[in-house]
Amino acid sequence: MMDVSSVRIDWLVGTNCIDWKFAVTIFLNERFPLLLYSACMGECDSPLRLSELFSVSMVFAPRPFSPLPPASLFNFPMEVIFGNLQKLLLLFGNYTMTTSTHIRSEFYLEDGMTFLNHGSFGAVPRAVRAAQEEFRLQYERQPIRFVLRELPGLLRSSASTLGEFIGARGEDIAFVENATTGVNAVVRSLIPHFKQGDEILTTSHVYGAVRQTLLYAAECSGARLVEVDAPFPVTNEDEIVAAFVAGISERTTLAVIDHITSPTGIIFPIEKMIAACKERGIAVLIDGAHAPGMVELNLDALGADWYTGNCHKWLFAPKGCAFLWTHPSRQAETHPTVISHKYKVSYTEEFDWTGTQDFSAFLTVPNALEFYNNHGGKALRERNHALAIEARNILSTAWNKPAPAPDAMLGFMAAIEAPVTTPGTLEESLKLHDYLWDTHRIEVPVMPFNDTLWIRVSAQIYNVREEYETLARVFTI
Ligand SMILES: Cc1ncc(COP(=O)(O)O)c(C=O)c1O
Repeated sequence: MMDVSSVRIDWLVGTNCIDWKFAVTIFLNERFPLLLYSACMGECDSPLRLSELFSVSMVFAPRPFSPLPPASLFNFPMEVIFGNLQKLLLLFGNYTMTTSTHIRSEFYLEDGMTFLNHGSFGAVPRAVRAAQEEFRLQYERQPIRFVLRELPGLLRSSASTLGEFIGARGEDIAFVENATTGVNAVVRSLIPHFKQGDEILTTSHVYGAVRQTLLYAAECSGARLVEVDAPFPVTNEDEIVAAFVAGISERTTLAVIDHITSPTGIIFPIEKMIAACKERGIAVLIDGAHAPGMVELNLDALGADWYTGNCHKWLFAPKGCAFLWTHPSRQAETHPTVISHKYKVSYTEEFDWTGTQDFSAFLTVPNALEFYNNHGGKALRERNHALAIEARNILSTAWNKPAPAPDAMLGFMAAIEAPVTTPGTLEESLKLHDYLWDTHRIEVPVMPFNDTLWIRVSAQIYNVREEYETLARVFTI
């Protein structure tokens, strides 16, 4: 049987055609482009109608496409073509068919801008936001009943659903507002355990807020923060592992490792980095702020002690939805940064109540996952990854800048050197960012890293290739 996980379907609707209504381009392993055209399918001349007919499947990346099918294709008996198409779509299960243009209207993103920064804060779909509002109303209708009777079960059920997605048990998952809070919970819990001269190891790609948190912990405890320079540009993941391992010493007690880096947008080989730590008895906290939704996770098998990740970036949850996974052996020493009634009662109970707050974002994880899966799940990941590479290639060619990382180290983001001669400082990065927004209505982050300015583009479901071409033209016209 065909490996459906490796099939990507791109489709386009032909609206002006006489005897066909739509076309589907199927790429098998991206090596065998196979065009299947169906003859007139009743009234299915719109994406929505099409999805109703098939109740199906898609990954939708509009590609350059001839509006009329080659005549030779009409020589195939239509039943064969259509039969094959249906089989493939059925194998995919129940996805929704739509286009990037349609999809963008499922978000709140305003018109008239090129939005290439999903990575910073995500963007919530209207459907998930509506579900969040329902939870808020449930809270307001009878606050006491909600907090005492409904909330505990809802939180744990949401954690279990998330656990199934990230390969973890619900009871090892605590909700936190964001990855910064997750990192703080772990690192600040460890302050009393650090001894003078202990070392906390991280890399130069570390997220700024996490670096400050580690500095704070070091200052409070007498530990020392060791930040190794991990290369960028990078040619393979072993260069990252080698740089990281070189920073390990006999005093290293905690390693804080990015899963997907913020300034450079690359996927770190965390399995190898964790293994290097575990061989030496070093505790590991993974900062997976960008990972959920972008890469497949199996936290139970990963070997880390803690893993924090955002659901509000790439998993379509509303802002303020993140998690902290803690290995059972570490749960007794791991506390939320805000201590409340349930101190030392149990890991999940401590985190589930840190004072009165809006819990609605945590409860929408099942809704966010539903949106994610209905829009392709794994197929969506493959589509966004391919688009990020395509984007990087467009910019690389237009600006004559080499790709700074291999494709395999990219997820849904890609950094490319900015085609400017200004110094790679924070000040210059802000100026360039503002110029792109103020003059061109392009929202894209400019990151100063290794004395160079990098433009980091994101690729999410609503992005299309033309948007990266718009960015490319800013510096080529
Ligand atoms: C690697 C990394 N860690 C942590 C964070 C912080 O995420 P949050 O603002 O949701 O706490 C980010 C944000 O972009 C990040 O890229």
